[in-house]
Amino acid sequence: MKAGNQAPIVVSGARPTGRQHLGNLHGALRVWLGLQNEYRCFFFVADWHALTTDYADSRSIAGSVGEMVRDWLAVGLDPSRVVIFQQSLVKEHAELHLLFAMITPVPWLERNPVYKEQRQQIADRDLSTVGFLSYPVLQAADILIYKGARVPVGVDQVPHIELAREIARRFNQLYGPVFPEPEALLSRSPKIPGLDGRKMSKSYNNVVLLTDPPDEVDGKLSRMMTDPRRVRRTDPGEPNDCPAFVLHQVYCTPEEIDYVMKGCRTADIGCLECKKIMIKHVLAELEPIRERRAALRQEEVDGVLETGTRAAREVAARTMAEVRAAVGLTG
Ligand code: TRP
Ligand code: SF4
Repeated sequence: MKAGNQAPIVVSGARPTGRQHLGNLHGALRVWLGLQNEYRCFFFVADWHALTTDYADSRSIAGSVGEMVRDWLAVGLDPSRVVIFQQSLVKEHAELHLLFAMITPVPWLERNPVYKEQRQQIADRDLSTVGFLSYPVLQAADILIYKGARVPVGVDQVPHIELAREIARRFNQLYGPVFPEPEALLSRSPKIPGLDGRKMSKSYNNVVLLTDPPDEVDGKLSRMMTDPRRVRRTDPGEPNDCPAFVLHQVYCTPEEIDYVMKGCRTADIGCLECKKIMIKHVLAELEPIRERRAALRQEEVDGVLETGTRAAREVAARTMAEVRAAVGLTG
């Protein structure tokens, strides 16, 4: 942990999606692992945020929480260093969301590009709800209740962090300086494509789960999409147009990458041979994760969430006391 009390606080959350995949590992989780030794970190399962879109299917959320946290622990998040908890068990987030809702102009939310895009794209559910519009206000509360100043997120979340800054600024102007203005921390590593070349996502059914058994990982990656120009074994390809090659860049040694690039462009190697070079690294990475996961008892996972929730509540309660005093709600 950085010395002094000047070290910025890190906050991030993830909607409960259950078992995690390679995209989660190389996206959020790697970044979180890098931060946990340096900063005071709060990482949580955003189950209320899941309700903003899945309110009609609320029963499936609970099971996803435990599965996701189990994977977080398996990849090496250390509960003795970071606070891991479930959003809906820290009611102060809801109270702060309410107070933020009082000072957030609706047009700020209506012009949020994430909101506009999702309203257009998600047609199978009615998202004309207060809760969905207010998604970023709740996210601002999640961050600011811990006075989070750094928020590791994907680029798609940048508009939400921007809104959190604006809400913090407006609160501070109205009631006095209580909150920092949070900044997004963006990961520099490439996005892992899914097996079909689109973004890796459970809703596309194109994922490699951290819990997939080795033969399944091997099978899935062996069939992963490659440069479509390589129709026949003798057709040369271009690694930069090959989704599988993104994984080579993440996993392989410089020598292996060199060998693959040359072999692909000259059609000296076949795609399966090429992918096997990368697959062995993926398998080696997943093995200890799978072992740690299997060794985790349910009580341990529950215990981590309980301890984390208690720690989060304590900090959240302190901030809310300050917030109520600033607004003038002491009674
Ligand atoms: N909206 C984020 C996502 O979809 C999840 C989230 C909720 C979050 N609250 C947060 C992320 C607070 C960072 C900080 O990924
Ligand atoms: Fe991709 Fe390798 Fe096939 Fe080239 S040889 S298209 S890099 S899998």
